Amino acid sequence: MDNRTWAEGILSKATEKIKSVVERNAHKIPYITTNGVYDDCSKKRPSWWTNGFWAGILWEMNVLTGDAYYADLASEVEDVMAPGLTDYETLDHDNGFRWLLTSVYHYKRTGNRISRNRSLLAANALAGRYNPAGQFIRAWNDDGIDDRRGWAIIDCMMNLPLLYWASEETADPRFRKIAELHATRVIDTFIRNDGSACHIVEFNPETGERVCSHGGQGYSHGSSWTRGQAWAVYGFMLSFIHTGTEKYLKAARRVADYFISTMPESWLVPIDFRQPADISLEDSTAAAIAACGMIEIGDEKYLSCAVNMLKTLADKRMNLDSAVDNLIENGSVAYHSDEHHRGIVYGDFFFIEALMKLAGKSFFPW
Ligand code: GLY
Repeated sequence: MDNRTWAEGILSKATEKIKSVVERNAHKIPYITTNGVYDDCSKKRPSWWTNGFWAGILWEMNVLTGDAYYADLASEVEDVMAPGLTDYETLDHDNGFRWLLTSVYHYKRTGNRISRNRSLLAANALAGRYNPAGQFIRAWNDDGIDDRRGWAIIDCMMNLPLLYWASEETADPRFRKIAELHATRVIDTFIRNDGSACHIVEFNPETGERVCSHGGQGYSHGSSWTRGQAWAVYGFMLSFIHTGTEKYLKAARRVADYFISTMPESWLVPIDFRQPADISLEDSTAAAIAACGMIEIGDEKYLSCAVNMLKTLADKRMNLDSAVDNLIENGSVAYHSDEHHRGIVYGDFFFIEALMKLAGKSFFPW
């Protein structure tokens, strides 16, 4: 069976299941499952960084079924999130995840001016985090514990398309320039000689010098958190798609080569490629995200790795029970976290996105 036919078959089963999941969770904003039941961030965490992914799944369903019901629900999620645009403490580097999958996609689909306004406010807030001395976009806000003024994280590569979109939309190159400077600085300061990527790099916020790296969500300092590697593969590829600049494609390939070289024989991706060999903790979300990036790189080597990861997820980690909220099992928030082997909204989002790419469905919210 060719990849397209295979992906179409899985997508049609996934679509049937997600119909029941949405029915049960309509008007909520799910993030993570406990025993197969989603939580709801709509009231307790309306600005949580993953909220856009639920809207993203709803937009995917809108494309897959043609049913406007899903677009209406996605628009509702956006409305719940909108007050966050005037809450300084909740705006951070993840504005891309929040707003590309909600207001930007909504605007691109319908021309809605309220969504356009929200998108441009989000892009301005993201651009405002740029530190010109270090040529990086600051990650998180202050937490009263760490001095995070000089912290940047690999995940932010995925947020840059918000800036590329804002430049296209306004014909003002400022946003794109900031994205390009950040992406270039990340190549120079995050990517190790073996092609692996650090999670957090700290710069001196006054002089811009690289100070050190921090372990972040992986096993330890100097290890390789697989979701971070996946953010790098897809994130650099997105910068290449938006700019055509070869060095971003080269960076995406380098991290992808590292990812492939450390892949276990099972094709089940661990939380960290350097976690102890006798630890079997997985992160299925990393596999789904990396698959999206590798499909976009497109050469046979990367495509076949992507397809192997997706087929393994479909065979071993896909739960089609309509009473269970998540589609994909074994997502993990971080190595040192209690939230291991759960259903996580972005795991399902990227799994469906990857299948849609293979099946030739038109869906590109980045
Ligand atoms: N961006 C945070 C994470 O990947 O968990």
